Amino acid sequence: MKTIWKNNIKSFNKLNKNIKCDTLIIGGGIAGLWCAYNLSKQGQKVCILEANKVGSGVTSGSTAILNYAQLIIYDTLIKKHGEKVAKRYLDDTINAINQIKNVTESENIDCNLNKTDFVLFTTKTCGATKLKKEKIALEKLGVETKFVELEELPYKIKKALSIKGSYLLDPLLLLNGLTNYVISKGGEIYENTMVTSQPDGKVIEVDGYKVEAKNFIIATHYPYINFPGFYFLKLYQSQNYIIVFKPNEKQKNFAANTTYECIDKNSFEYRRIGKNILCLGPDVRTGTKPYISKYQIIRDHLNEYFEGYEEIFRFSAQDCITADGLPYAGLYSDFLDNVYVLTGFNKWGITNSFITAEVICNKILNKSNKKQENIYAPDRNNFFASIIKTIENLGVDIAGWSNNLLNVDSKKITRIKNNQGAVVKINGMRVGVYRNENGKLHIIRGTCTHLGCALRWNKDENSFDCPCHGSRFDINGNILNNPAIKKAEKIKT
Ligand code: FES
Repeated sequence: MKTIWKNNIKSFNKLNKNIKCDTLIIGGGIAGLWCAYNLSKQGQKVCILEANKVGSGVTSGSTAILNYAQLIIYDTLIKKHGEKVAKRYLDDTINAINQIKNVTESENIDCNLNKTDFVLFTTKTCGATKLKKEKIALEKLGVETKFVELEELPYKIKKALSIKGSYLLDPLLLLNGLTNYVISKGGEIYENTMVTSQPDGKVIEVDGYKVEAKNFIIATHYPYINFPGFYFLKLYQSQNYIIVFKPNEKQKNFAANTTYECIDKNSFEYRRIGKNILCLGPDVRTGTKPYISKYQIIRDHLNEYFEGYEEIFRFSAQDCITADGLPYAGLYSDFLDNVYVLTGFNKWGITNSFITAEVICNKILNKSNKKQENIYAPDRNNFFASIIKTIENLGVDIAGWSNNLLNVDSKKITRIKNNQGAVVKINGMRVGVYRNENGKLHIIRGTCTHLGCALRWNKDENSFDCPCHGSRFDINGNILNNPAIKKAEKIKT
């Protein structure tokens, strides 16, 4: 994955022998590494199996903020789960921020951790009402906030709420520090080793080798085991498009010490990274609205309000979203012994990966806090807190499956220009077609290898994306994002 972060992480071999450890962690992103760090610190021997390179997945696309004011979350959590749960999540998040700071200090991890002021703002009257409610919710939970006047934004706003205690960091430098720690404690890491099977008792077969472990942690961003667990009914993926830009001379100090997040639908956020600014555009469910360029939406916004800016870099990031606003951490399923999962970070991956790793590691080390465990348990009863989202997710799944049968795209291969792609039907078969800069066609099967939904062309990223649970494939069928664990079949031209 393309990344703006500094990647010093060393390379590791592919699994080439049988191995044995206390805990096997599947997935070498920030969530897996927090688990590995915690368990190594307590004397466990850990092994990590990563399908690609450590940190090459979602972590490298992180926009890396540590903060507890996560848009309009506490008012929503209080309504959905009650004040106690909202307070617990707030306390856990504040604790995560402090602990991450402590770890970077105690382990000498230089990851450009910098304090930032944090402002939530709105340009709409209904947004002002929401901000007032969030302020009340935060104060009910013991956090002081204040409304502020914002003059520095290049457009008019209705209301802005300032909240203290946020930080920005470089996620790959953090990951590098955690990786070094784990290796120094005897941990083993294997890259280019994709796990596709499920643990059977205390053993899992990977590429013909046996891995024996007392515990297994699935930290693969989106859990790859469908049955049991049924995570495909509990999670969807959302994609954020980001442009890194250098502001013009007049705006060079914009966002220098403050991070701005707009709470309105289809709005923009600004975070500083050195001399440049990250502008996050509106997020969308992965695989939807295929005909609108999300990067162009951001460019239009920057042209209007940051005239004379220079585009430095662009990338997209993918997040797993739970139906009830809280991440999942705990036993994968009652039907799988000693298998744990952490997922559903709802766009707050740096803090939520820390919280959920702690929950799982405490469980493995028999130090569990029952109350905390129940809040994040993947099998928690959240039916009423999430019924609308669950129905929505099911609706997308049904539409995704039926599109294979009903959606006849009239676009013909001959009309696809160079550097363009589309999903079309050839002899009744749905295929994804991309014509490269020399006119050569790349054709893959247009059905997702996860659970069979119809893929869609994403012209921003030149990929074929699945709207159901967010798997993504490149033009040759290679997996860019799970839960798919099988490449999309290449069709001979
Ligand atoms: Fe589940 Fe495509 S990601 S069907």
